[in-house]
Amino acid sequence: MRLTTHLTTNLTKTFTRLALGSAIMVASLGAVQAQDDEVKIGFIVKKPEQAWFINEQRAATEVGEELGFDVVRLGGEDGQQVLSAIDNLYAQGADGFVICPPDVRLGPAIMNRANQYDMKVITVDDRFVNSSGEPMEGVPHLGMSGYKIGQQVGEAIAAEMEARGWNPEEVAALRITNDELPTAVERTTGATNALLDAGFPEDNIFDAPQQNSDTASAFSAASPVLAQRGDYEHWVIYALNEESVLGGVRATEQYGLKAEDVIGVGINGSGAAFAEFSRNDPTGFHGTVAVSSTMHGRQTAEDLYRWITEDQEPPANTETSGVLMTREDWQTVREELGL
Ligand code: GLA
Repeated sequence: MRLTTHLTTNLTKTFTRLALGSAIMVASLGAVQAQDDEVKIGFIVKKPEQAWFINEQRAATEVGEELGFDVVRLGGEDGQQVLSAIDNLYAQGADGFVICPPDVRLGPAIMNRANQYDMKVITVDDRFVNSSGEPMEGVPHLGMSGYKIGQQVGEAIAAEMEARGWNPEEVAALRITNDELPTAVERTTGATNALLDAGFPEDNIFDAPQQNSDTASAFSAASPVLAQRGDYEHWVIYALNEESVLGGVRATEQYGLKAEDVIGVGINGSGAAFAEFSRNDPTGFHGTVAVSSTMHGRQTAEDLYRWITEDQEPPANTETSGVLMTREDWQTVREELGL
């Protein structure tokens, strides 16, 4: 029954492809027909070189192997690349894709292209927004519960400041921001509010706006802020993810601050954090709130597969939670989260 539905859908798609009929599409038809029995989905990510996304795509591939569907892993680092990736998936006979978009405002354009091809779409991590900046409710999404996870970051920083006996009045906070990305705003706002609740002075929080969500852009954003505020000896650092916090920590090192004068707490719990915790000497990177990229990859891929084969629509919005990991316990937490 399930197979019949799928075959019918595939046949309809084959005819649609023929009707659309460009030379490339006709040429690819042989491949499409040859694979009619195997469901194929795409998994497109904005930063294919980052450990979080490598693990997410690996987990999607694994669940595909277990349940019997094919996952095509692709990078989409800008709008043009994403649209080509979708064309490419269509030519390969894919029935849909999971995507973490490079810019959430591309949502309407991406959905247009997907709808032309009758492909199903689920977003992971970064949720599409419409032209008014509101989340695109019609596209199922799975991502972090950004505000709560941000609060965990702020609480972890406050606890470590207390453990080190720092006077909050003499501590500066480097808040690395990315205002274009709603989940980033939620995360850094959650962290800020938790710090304020713990008595951190608002005037000691300094913004370093980054252009991207990686280490290099955070390093560039952080350096001038540290230079301008040379009067502070103790710094805390937070951002939307650990890659960015690591950029801030590297900037404090270059500026000459010692590890014991810096408390950076990230978000993700990916290979980037594991590499940092594995260094011989501790750095200013105190910890990170780990979320299971394995679960994000598996769940979204499986949801899409069930949607395609059983017509079972995924939940509109799933919010996942996190656990703090530090240099002391990262291996245990890693194992618990199946990372
Ligand atoms: C965003 C960040 C990634 C990761 C994911 C997790 O995409 O850029 O580093 O934190 O969210 O949801």
